[in-house]
Amino acid sequence: MGRGISTRCLHLEETETKIEHYGALSYPIYQTATYAHAGVRQSTGYDYSRLQNPTREQLEKVVASLEGGIDAIALSSGMASISLLMEIFKPGDHLIVESDLYGGSMRLFDSVSNKNGLTFSYANCYKEDISQYITPNTKAIYIETPTNPMMNVVDIEKIAKIAKENSLLLIVDNTFLSPYFQNPLKLGADVVIHSGTKFLGGHNDTLAGFIITNREEIRDKLRFLIKTTGAGLSPFDSWLILRGIKTLGVRMEQAQKNALAIANWLKEQEIVAKVIYPGLPEHPGYHIIQKQARGFGAMITFNVDTKAHALAILEKVKMIKYAESLGGLKH
Ligand SMILES: Cc1ncc(COP(=O)(O)O)c(C=O)c1O
Repeated sequence: MGRGISTRCLHLEETETKIEHYGALSYPIYQTATYAHAGVRQSTGYDYSRLQNPTREQLEKVVASLEGGIDAIALSSGMASISLLMEIFKPGDHLIVESDLYGGSMRLFDSVSNKNGLTFSYANCYKEDISQYITPNTKAIYIETPTNPMMNVVDIEKIAKIAKENSLLLIVDNTFLSPYFQNPLKLGADVVIHSGTKFLGGHNDTLAGFIITNREEIRDKLRFLIKTTGAGLSPFDSWLILRGIKTLGVRMEQAQKNALAIANWLKEQEIVAKVIYPGLPEHPGYHIIQKQARGFGAMITFNVDTKAHALAILEKVKMIKYAESLGGLKH
């Protein structure tokens, strides 16, 4: 495992397992829903693709390895991952959640998980003492860092310490930095979430999500849940994400270079009131992100002076698309 992260992104696919598929450099797509058995009570280990599929497993091995987890589960979207993860909790359980999160995650917590009996306290995890929100029913802390959309940097080790002291799980959505720049499990988190739709896939053409853990009991619960609820990633989409990951390193480096140049350019513009990018020394999380990550990522938030200017920018952007999502080649 001494190889550099960029090399691992490119070569894990063929080096983590012994590939025998006629020497194919690209892992085959096992486009099958089911598998024939040689006889009664005989299985090749593959019974039905909701449970096992070689292409999806190959992707899961690569992602688990990049994040330093014992297992990764590949799902049909980032939201499918977060939804599945909520199933490990039971009615009455309480979670402390970062208050600046991807809006879809909040919608899930407030309108679906809540209905199922989970309760949530929203906290500014980057600056508040979150211990004040812990109750006897608290089971987990859920953060993103940097946060979407305000780019707050949360100190993962600090939050992990509070989680450990109080026997809580720490869940980190690592979508914005990707495993190329940040590995929360190595900083004390128990579970990592990804929208694979973003930097991992990287081409705006595939929805995907991941849950990665280094805890055996969580792995066992999640494996039971994915088999039972069924939102596993399709073989073809697994292959597309495997292909995306091969260039994760070069894409992340270039996107970060572009982001820094754009952030500095934005700072010079008269109508721009504030630029929030953790790679700028004036960002309050500049030193924390350097301590816990290998880069600053490529997401920038900025404020302009008037609503009219904001609308004009959205109408006039050409190469940058006025579109949802992030992390693709064309954004
Ligand atoms: C930080 C973050 N987490 C999760 C998601 C949800 O992922 P998906 O759109 O793949 O369901 C997104 C989507 O934008 C996101 O930005």
